[in-house]
Amino acid sequence: MARVLVTRPLTEGGTDPLLAAGHQIVEPEENPLSPASLVTLAAGCDGIVSHLTDRIDATVLEAGKAGRLRVVANAAVGFDNIDVPSAQRLGITVCNTPGVLDDTTADLAFLLILAATRLASEAERDLREGRWQGWGFGDHLARDVHGATLGLVGYGRIGQAVARRASGFGMEVLHTCRNDTGVNGYVPSLDMLLRSSDVVSLHVPLSESTRHLIGAEQLAVMKPTAVLVNTARGPVVDEDALVDALESRTIFAAGLDVFDGEPSLNPRLLGAPHVTLLPHIGSATIETRTRMARLACQGVCDVLAGRTPPNTVVPTPPPA
Ligand code: DGY
Repeated sequence: MARVLVTRPLTEGGTDPLLAAGHQIVEPEENPLSPASLVTLAAGCDGIVSHLTDRIDATVLEAGKAGRLRVVANAAVGFDNIDVPSAQRLGITVCNTPGVLDDTTADLAFLLILAATRLASEAERDLREGRWQGWGFGDHLARDVHGATLGLVGYGRIGQAVARRASGFGMEVLHTCRNDTGVNGYVPSLDMLLRSSDVVSLHVPLSESTRHLIGAEQLAVMKPTAVLVNTARGPVVDEDALVDALESRTIFAAGLDVFDGEPSLNPRLLGAPHVTLLPHIGSATIETRTRMARLACQGVCDVLAGRTPPNTVVPTPPPA
């Protein structure tokens, strides 16, 4: 019987594929697992269902390899927490969960586009904290979403799902990515997209080429009325540069679902003006989390049965 480590509890029914295949599930009580526990448990398992909060580095993978580890399936579409080149070197398959969370994450990105552009968090805070003195013609003035130009950085499944929502709001949609998509709205450079957009939404994976993709230089070319939304990964944005830009009104507002070093927050973000902050809930619906759990577990079952899962990941290419 194969042993599969599930590092954190999944939603109800999430482990069904593992149970149906007759695998033994190892569910530690420690949550999240310490790096030392991860190494110890990896050494005794055939597969791991991991989360983006688990650092699956070379030490974990080598301990697993010294035992019988064959597959790590991340219950997330992003896999920057896994050392994929080391896994490849060791012959351990890595899978993720693409395709099942696009619409849910796009919904959340659109929520942030609306909330940040309409300054909804600040308005709600004023109300809850007793500062609202009644309807005021000049109060809580924000910007329009409808008719604005949306710039998508990255045009994978989630970016395209955000674009579909934007068309319902009468937005013009631009996008930029590594290769010309041939789709209407493609712009060949990030700089051009940033200069032209009223709302910029980030949809790129975290890699060495996207770390601090948005820093002081990029924020400086955005419109002073522009809004930045990040539902990708925190380190894609230089958070100190973002706070500087919000404080100096270099840009109008920001909406963030992801943070550098989460769950720790850059304290400057908490005090920054015109910012909406959510605790990394992009894919957090019961339906989607269950689909993600099952897909990750199915990936483990596939590998343990000698099949190559369709959601196998390969190392991210080096910066262009
Ligand atoms: C992902 O899947 O990478 C999200 O960040 C969490 O759902």
